[in-house]
Amino acid sequence: MANPIKGLVLAGGTGTRLRPITHTSAKQLVPLANKPILFYGLESLAKAGVKDVAMIVGDTREEVMTAVGDGSKFGLNVTYIHQEKPLGLAHCVQMAQRVLGDSDFIMYLGDNFIRDGVEEFVESFANRSDGTNAQILLAKVPDPQRFGVATLDAVGDVVSLVEKPTVPESDLALVGVYLFDSAIHEAVHSISPSARGELEITDAIQWLITNGKKVRSHIVDGYWKDLGEPEALLEGNRLVLESIERNISGDVDDLSTLDGRVVLEPGASVVRSIIRGPAIIGQNTVIKDSFIGPFTSVAAGCVIESSEVEHSIILNGSRITNIHRLEGSIIGKSAVVAKTERRPLATRLVVGDHSRIDLV
Ligand code: G1P
Repeated sequence: MANPIKGLVLAGGTGTRLRPITHTSAKQLVPLANKPILFYGLESLAKAGVKDVAMIVGDTREEVMTAVGDGSKFGLNVTYIHQEKPLGLAHCVQMAQRVLGDSDFIMYLGDNFIRDGVEEFVESFANRSDGTNAQILLAKVPDPQRFGVATLDAVGDVVSLVEKPTVPESDLALVGVYLFDSAIHEAVHSISPSARGELEITDAIQWLITNGKKVRSHIVDGYWKDLGEPEALLEGNRLVLESIERNISGDVDDLSTLDGRVVLEPGASVVRSIIRGPAIIGQNTVIKDSFIGPFTSVAAGCVIESSEVEHSIILNGSRITNIHRLEGSIIGKSAVVAKTERRPLATRLVVGDHSRIDLV
């Protein structure tokens, strides 16, 4: 390809939405099936043939940069750009122009997950011959007022785009993946900040439409972006686990059973336990005398002993002991959940800010 498509990945923001998990973590690094959301995006860019990526980082940049490095583990070459204030997605495009030059590029919001990746869209944009200036992806969502919303005409062309409308005209949300040619650079310099004080990419794309540029759209399935509520994170985790393949690398003793699509990462061990897939058990995690039910992700370095855990996400280094049944739960890093033997027999909690506990 004469002019390969570049990548612009947005991994800034403060990450206050999925509290308490993102008090200490960038939202793009929250794991789905033990892998940061952002990594799925980077892998799909690499698969689509993207090599050079400009990555916008903000307050959580140290953590993001440590996780991604120079991008070589993804087959990418990543250049970081620090955005000091979250001034909007179109502002990110302005900042990245010196790296992107006149190339076509794919802009990918690092907290968006697209089950089937972006290969197909990148390929169709790269091979277009109809002069399309931008391609947007849309997904049907139940709560369009939380997104940019598109209105299409009878033949499916984009008529208008509105950022977070109070009364949405359709249920088609803008997915956080956009393909642009260099026309977008004029657009991002021609718009004014929105009511929330940001330069909106939605307004920049609307500017393209108003100024006679060609904007194509495509509707995707298997879209997930919802870091707002724990239930929604569990749902994203489920979406990813639904398509994992069985892969057993750790140790399993003769008294244990691994049913169905279970991933056991290297160094993990399962002793006198049942794991019913889809489920993933991270590196060096120990599962002992326990039952791990479907739709559960246990990250690296955890210990689960004499407990039952189902439909839950357990993050790195946590310990769960003697818990009869944990369901629909998200346990943060290095947490301890145990049944006490100590008198007085009472519930003793050390609970972080914004936590939620449902006791029976
Ligand atoms: C941004 C865009 C919005 C889009 C969404 C997808 O919203 O402004 O149009 O639908 O990403 O993730 P934000 O996450 O900045 O509120």
